[in-house]
Amino acid sequence: MAQYVIKGGSPLAGEVEIGGAKNAALAILAASIMTDETVTIENMPAVRDTSVLLDAMEGIGVEIIRVDKNTVKINGARVRNVNIEYELIKKIRASYYLLGALLGKYKQAEVPLPGGCNIGSRPIDQHIKGFKALGADVKVEHGVIKANAERLVGAHIYMDVVTVGATINVMMASCMAEGKTTIENAAKEPHVVDVANFLNSMGAQIRGAGTDIIRIKGVKSLHSANYSIIPDQIEAGTFMFAAAATKGDVTIKNVIPKHLESITSKLIEMGCEIDEFDDAVRVVAKGRLFPTQVKTLPYPGFPTDMQPQAGVTLGLCDGSSVITESIFENRFKYVDEIVRMGANIKVEGNTAFINGVKKYTGANVSAPDLRAGAALVIAALAAEGVTVVDDIHFIERGYEDFDIKLRALGAVIEKTESEKEVKKAKMKLRIVV
Ligand code: EPZ
Repeated sequence: MAQYVIKGGSPLAGEVEIGGAKNAALAILAASIMTDETVTIENMPAVRDTSVLLDAMEGIGVEIIRVDKNTVKINGARVRNVNIEYELIKKIRASYYLLGALLGKYKQAEVPLPGGCNIGSRPIDQHIKGFKALGADVKVEHGVIKANAERLVGAHIYMDVVTVGATINVMMASCMAEGKTTIENAAKEPHVVDVANFLNSMGAQIRGAGTDIIRIKGVKSLHSANYSIIPDQIEAGTFMFAAAATKGDVTIKNVIPKHLESITSKLIEMGCEIDEFDDAVRVVAKGRLFPTQVKTLPYPGFPTDMQPQAGVTLGLCDGSSVITESIFENRFKYVDEIVRMGANIKVEGNTAFINGVKKYTGANVSAPDLRAGAALVIAALAAEGVTVVDDIHFIERGYEDFDIKLRALGAVIEKTESEKEVKKAKMKLRIVV
């Protein structure tokens, strides 16, 4: 497995460009097969999850032209089957977006049930509820969800929980159903809005995305489009917290400040200075950091995908903080690792009680999942001494060129592929810095 070897203690300073939103890109790539014409997607993040999904789409006959690292042309005219390999969905659960896309276009789809993942059980009952409401027959056999319909007819669907995935999946399937669909208690995340805007650019008729009621008028077919994905709110927030934890001064460019409001306000509570510009935010954290409370909520609340990054930063604040994780049941796996670096954090159920410490000390840690891994990198950047973060393939699922971007901000970080390379990097770091 690959690792990052990090020598902490350097405040991050300078400018970083944010890439396209992973959680918008995965749905948009899947939705692009809903037309037989060619779709061009720009500002696509070149991360493991998008490359795995593109490979799977090619596996069912989708034509993919990789124009450059962040631009693809997609043509779904020659999709030859509608069942997705289990191996794929094991790698990225978001391949379940192909369910909504294939069902909407071909009125049939077979996708293996996505297993649970490191952060929780991840049910898809609301996805299935939405497809059934549209008239699809949905059954689960041998671990595969089989959905098919003579015809899809618009319906009034009330989501029992606010769910990004089900909101997007049902929005996709219903945009080619007959008649009108209303999705109530819909998720309002920026990536839900981005997927709706993308589908509308292909000729769909979706109104209200970004509110809790989305109205869709089904259309017979969709056409080609050129679309650029919105900036990644979570990548941006990760760099904002990295600036705070290292007492740095970082300008995060190519963002939509509105999408970062809950993150910005939390960092201000913690004592950071934040300047907002049209498409950038500057985070300055020169003085003490102060403790506070965080509760993760659906957008526009504080994002669950930012919870680990907040946790490790609050672990360095003078005083006691509390984090309540209300979305997933197992999203504190970073705590066992960060405690090895000197953190004083205790988890009880879905609450973490944090007593700030003066510093972290470098240690060997392993990334338990994508966002926990990013949080451990933040802790390592702030720590005294050298940290080795192992299993960074989790981090590479959602962060493009993470080490390169951090190095450009003054971080002392090396990516290694073996124990031998770790030893060499440690020697180099001891000599160089
Ligand atoms: C998306 O996951 C994101 N993934 C997650 O980001 C993100 O944490 C999550 O939304 C919440 O914002 C992608 O977009 C690929 P949900 P998703 O359906 O859609 C329950 C990352 O780090 N639920 O909004 O799977 C569920 O158990 C990843 O980038 C049901 O009960 O999340 C959870 O408690 C991690 N039934 C809550 O809803 C369902 O049918 C929110 O889940 C679906 C969900």
